[in-house]
Amino acid sequence: MPANIQPAIGRFAETIVQWQKQAGRHDLPWQGTSDPYKIWLSEIMLQQTQVSTVIAYYQRFLERFPTLQALAGATQDEVMPYWAGLGYYARARNLHRCAQVLCEKWGGKFPRQVSEIVQLPGIGRSTAAAIAAFAYGERQPIMDGNVKRVFTRYFGIIGNPAVRAIEQELWQTADAAIDAAPPELDMAAYTQGLMDLGSSCCTRTRPACGLCPLGSHCYARIESMQRELPTPKTRKTGAERQCKMLILEHQGKILLEQRPSPGIWGGLRSLPQYDDLESLQGACLNWGLDPAQARKIAALLHTFSHFRLHIEPWYLRSPAQFVAETRPQQAWVAIEDLPAAALPAPVRKLLCGLFPGPG
Ligand code: ADE
Repeated sequence: MPANIQPAIGRFAETIVQWQKQAGRHDLPWQGTSDPYKIWLSEIMLQQTQVSTVIAYYQRFLERFPTLQALAGATQDEVMPYWAGLGYYARARNLHRCAQVLCEKWGGKFPRQVSEIVQLPGIGRSTAAAIAAFAYGERQPIMDGNVKRVFTRYFGIIGNPAVRAIEQELWQTADAAIDAAPPELDMAAYTQGLMDLGSSCCTRTRPACGLCPLGSHCYARIESMQRELPTPKTRKTGAERQCKMLILEHQGKILLEQRPSPGIWGGLRSLPQYDDLESLQGACLNWGLDPAQARKIAALLHTFSHFRLHIEPWYLRSPAQFVAETRPQQAWVAIEDLPAAALPAPVRKLLCGLFPGPG
């Protein structure tokens, strides 16, 4: 944490507990129980899934499998329908396997120690700590995505949390926050409070710092760095691609071609696309067109989740005597019909800019 700001680590956990009791969530169906089976089930369902989606699944699952023994005694085929729609199905398979391990090796009871819980199928360090804190009041920190946001902002931890050294710093800071708290710290309220803070005040975009109990010592708020923290991943080099596209106009129509599926824009209709200018010129020559007549127009940049595509469009109007032979996946589309065509967003932008249409 930065030396110039001395965060009140001593009051950190207690402040969160106090806030959780006044302003946190208290009516979630997995609260108010210390049954580790029910707590474990909720924590697994809540990985990668929102609270509002989980509630109905959680209740249905517990009606059908009310105990660890009921779950362990079922077959996987009996369990899966109760997970269908929640996604990430390895969670359900691990859950079922874990129930069997608990019955076979642990006498049907959840172990108490985080170091033991974390060895069970499908349970990582943070989930193990959450189960131990909610079920047994164990003093162990959690560190999920929301909590990483709270810690990086409050303690000014700079660097992407997916990097090992930063993740270690986060866990160490989380340990230190618990060590600095008094022995009577309510671990269930503290753990829930961190989760609640991350999902209500300390949101990814537009955090509600005015409502946050940690605001007066928060590094990100003091330094106005809420947008910069947590530090995002740096863009990988090599995540840039480029292509050429041909806008071939013939008697008020544009040549489009169906994109192969699977692949980017699979099934959409796009402009003929080439890796380099030589290939684009070769295609023109095959049609009997003079590539020297093609004119380059303003480039476009399109961002996908894993790379950025630099598009260099070339425009060519065919001469009147042109015989427009096409391949099966190609079609001529009238300029006035382009707005209704299934075009990829950057191609739509390009064509609409070139042919604005009436009005
Ligand atoms: N996300 C993960 N665990 C949670 C919990 N116990 N309550 C609310 N959201 C959560």
